[in-house]
Amino acid sequence: MKLSFSAPKLPSSGALAVLMTSASEFPSWLKELDEASDGMIAKTVKMAKFKAKTGEIVEIIAPAASKLTRLLLVGVGDAKALTEYHFERAGGRIYARLATSGETTLRIAIDGVTGAKLPFDLMAKHLAVGVRLRSYRFDKYRTKEPKSKKPTLGRVAILTPDHLAAGKAFESYDKVLDGVFFTRDLVSEPANILYPASFAKRLKTLDELGVEVQVLGEKEMKKLGMGALLGVGQGSDRDSQLVIMKYMGADDPDEAPIAFIGKGVTFDTGGISIKPAPGMEQMKWDMGGAGAVSGAMMALAGRKAKANIVGVVGLVENMPSSTAQRPGDVVKTMSGQTVEVINTDAEGRLVLCDAMWYTQDRFKPKMMIDLATLTGAIIATFGNQFAGLFSNNDKLANQIHAAGEAVHERLWRLPVNDTYDKEINSQIADMKNLGGRTAGSITAAQFLQRFCNGLPWAHLDVAGTVWSEKDDALWEKGATGYGVRLIDRIVADNYET
Ligand code: BES
Ligand code: MN
Ligand code: ZN
Repeated sequence: MKLSFSAPKLPSSGALAVLMTSASEFPSWLKELDEASDGMIAKTVKMAKFKAKTGEIVEIIAPAASKLTRLLLVGVGDAKALTEYHFERAGGRIYARLATSGETTLRIAIDGVTGAKLPFDLMAKHLAVGVRLRSYRFDKYRTKEPKSKKPTLGRVAILTPDHLAAGKAFESYDKVLDGVFFTRDLVSEPANILYPASFAKRLKTLDELGVEVQVLGEKEMKKLGMGALLGVGQGSDRDSQLVIMKYMGADDPDEAPIAFIGKGVTFDTGGISIKPAPGMEQMKWDMGGAGAVSGAMMALAGRKAKANIVGVVGLVENMPSSTAQRPGDVVKTMSGQTVEVINTDAEGRLVLCDAMWYTQDRFKPKMMIDLATLTGAIIATFGNQFAGLFSNNDKLANQIHAAGEAVHERLWRLPVNDTYDKEINSQIADMKNLGGRTAGSITAAQFLQRFCNGLPWAHLDVAGTVWSEKDDALWEKGATGYGVRLIDRIVADNYET
């Protein structure tokens, strides 16, 4: 997808989409076309009862008196209410509408949008963001897709006053979108292709961007005492891996970093506490937290963020086999605390607890945030609209919440609180990996809190948000890339010098 920005004028070829608010008049160049075509556009608008409501589109094929192949009038509603997200959705919708239409070139004019709070360069930037996000496809394994289903649209230009500023604003954010696509690729891959070692290998490519990538195998992790993480992977033939990504972009290379930690279960069968067959294929995306952290490292290094950042992902495959851990096994974590494994399907916390302890021990970060597809319960709570946010620190929780609102990767806070602690007390070890029948997402967070060693910490339960069963304005059914733009924004708004 080639995206560009240029000054508004009537194009002499290709498709043209014109954004209209409920109050807008045609831009002058469109008025001229309307006049030249005997009022054809105004008549169409009237006959189609087009009111420029959000999502409303009228399409004129081969409009008279011009060389355009199509003209689309695209409603965006009330100008005063328009946010960045509205423009992203508009861009995504227009792309989706024309992607396989046979059109190869599209221009989107926004100079008719007057009275909005956003300046033109930001409107244009976010329109382009939406177009690019919606253009993602994971089609590498389709060998027989008919040509008619393949996208034809390869070039999109945004026509806007201030097009130079718009181009600049987009250029830097385009690096963040590279990170989103990287995450979507990782999350989409099936588990026979993406397993701990092949995942680690893909992360090695980040060194081109100045990310230092270190991979620990089972031997090294054993030495470090990561009995919980290793216990999850011990039923699989695939070796577990811990990948440490370091990007030091702050002016002071010795400044304490911030850290992001991801759950990377490349496939979660449940282990001996095996999951039922229906829907188990979804557990290929049980590495969505690690995927988000990886994409975020690409994004932050790609746009040269001025911050010291560490990303750590725990990569394991949770399989049943004669070497798998059993319910009732007791494992020793790197922290020294012991865990009775009541249910081998509550494996995410076992992976994260060692990854978190390692991170705080080695890097002494200012704060750490983990992302994990941790519980089905968070999907029961929020569906796909919000991720769960847990934190021992109000300031950090507020930063994360605000960043989520800004990029529309939303979260809602739930408690971590001592009153839940007794739920995970074990009779024979320091704790068990399973709480009672209720408050499953909270007791999981409560477990993790025991491994942050008092640092400001937040846990994001992203089980409901990294994958979508439905098409959206910003993605096709599948991996959403959730978490990358969120992490980028948390860093940009709070941790850059
Ligand atoms: N990976 C799952 C959580 C999950 C479920 C993510 C559905 C996405 C969609 C996690 O490892 C798990 O199995 N959690 C169990 C925990 C339970 C055994 C305490 C769950 O949520 O059922
Ligand atoms: Mn599980
Ligand atoms: Zn899992």
